[in-house]
Amino acid sequence: MLITIPEVLNAEELSVVADLLTKATFVDGKLSAGQEATRVKHNEELSGQDQLITPLNNLVMGKLVQHPTYLAAALPLKIAAPYYARYSKGMSYGNHVDDPVMGPPGQRYRSDCSITVFLNRPDDYDGGELMIQTSFGEQKVKLKAGDAVLYPSSSTHRVAEVTRGERLVAVTWLQSSVREPSQRELLYSMYQARELLLRNAKGGTETELVSNAYVNLVRMWSDV
Ligand code: NI
Repeated sequence: MLITIPEVLNAEELSVVADLLTKATFVDGKLSAGQEATRVKHNEELSGQDQLITPLNNLVMGKLVQHPTYLAAALPLKIAAPYYARYSKGMSYGNHVDDPVMGPPGQRYRSDCSITVFLNRPDDYDGGELMIQTSFGEQKVKLKAGDAVLYPSSSTHRVAEVTRGERLVAVTWLQSSVREPSQRELLYSMYQARELLLRNAKGGTETELVSNAYVNLVRMWSDV
């Protein structure tokens, strides 16, 4: 399931992020890659030592973790601190699946979902699409600045070569309280149905029934 999380960051927040990223120190992305990914990873990432990471995380993650679409689609249990990646002309990230278990000792988590937040405008660069293999074929994702995509960490994916300009993204991973992707997908459909009912039939018996069933299914399938 690929889900767009719209407007994680608004125009004002994006300009603060852009300003911070201009001042940041980027290092070779291979430094943070696992052995397999090193072969195919050609990008740059904000240095883990950079002091700008804290204000960036406060803004980007602060907004993401409150977003209703993110909460409903991911049912997050643990989310990692993101990487800020820059792809200049000629850079790409070849096909890979993300590491299954991540995080430092004591803070390990299973990666169920991956998230890419697009930090600059799609017409700032050519190429640079996130290409995700799904059961409906390869999907091409290049979103508006401030939007994010949520996709299964188990899917094979890549970033197409940037042929002009610069692609700026924040990338992160999360462990869901509902491990099974098909269950998350079903819960997300029910969530959407409940939202529609709350809007169109507030106070109705059907709304109450769907809402209670949704809540109790989340309870049934959640491991925390
Ligand atoms: Ni990846």
